[in-house]
Amino acid sequence: FTPKLLAGKKIMITAGSTMEMLDPVRGITNLSSGKMGFALAQMAMRMGAETTLVYGHTHAPRPLVSHAHFAATADDMYHTVMQHIAAQDVFFGVAAVADYKPNMRSSQKIKKSEDILTIDLIKNKDILADVASLPNPPYCVGFAAETEQVIEYAKQKRLAKRLPMIVANQVMTAMGNDNNQVTIIDSKGEHTLDTDLKTNIAFKLLTHLKTQLDLD
Ligand code: C5P
Repeated sequence: FTPKLLAGKKIMITAGSTMEMLDPVRGITNLSSGKMGFALAQMAMRMGAETTLVYGHTHAPRPLVSHAHFAATADDMYHTVMQHIAAQDVFFGVAAVADYKPNMRSSQKIKKSEDILTIDLIKNKDILADVASLPNPPYCVGFAAETEQVIEYAKQKRLAKRLPMIVANQVMTAMGNDNNQVTIIDSKGEHTLDTDLKTNIAFKLLTHLKTQLDLD
């Protein structure tokens, strides 16, 4: 039995990774299994929230949610999120959004000729930071996957993106696994959760979120 703590809440979650295409068959991506975002979406449903999933590339089985939108690239994800954000109470940025996109996309497959091929990259817009700086933003939660100085970098990201809450995790622990070990950082400080299945981590995160929403 899962308590319907989030009944009446609208929650949007991004998950998976975006792929920035160079040509019809090649692209640049960030690795992400999509499992943490999908676990959160499934748990948000079970806890009674109207849940919108904006998902990129992933091989994980997609949970049944209220609304689901596929977004292939960072630009697609940005526009899909912005189209539906006004109605949301909460926004979780769990997707591994590619930081850069090629400045040109060839409509035909690029031929192998040069020994060194140079690609100019353009920085993608930061979806989470832009949602958090909307005039009337939803409660925004970020994820920071780091290989070193996990807590320190997560704290910096929380401030830089102006987020009430960020969830820090080790890349090596989180990536592709069914388990995760996270630290929640919010205005109250740090809360480290025990290593657990992503489903259970999702429940604990959403329960913690509920206490923060009640304080607002
Ligand atoms: O800065 P960094 O990419 O490490 O921050 C990670 C957080 O920001 C995640 O919550 C991710 O979903 C979000 N993000 C985003 N748009 C980007 C880059 C990251 O929403 N272009």
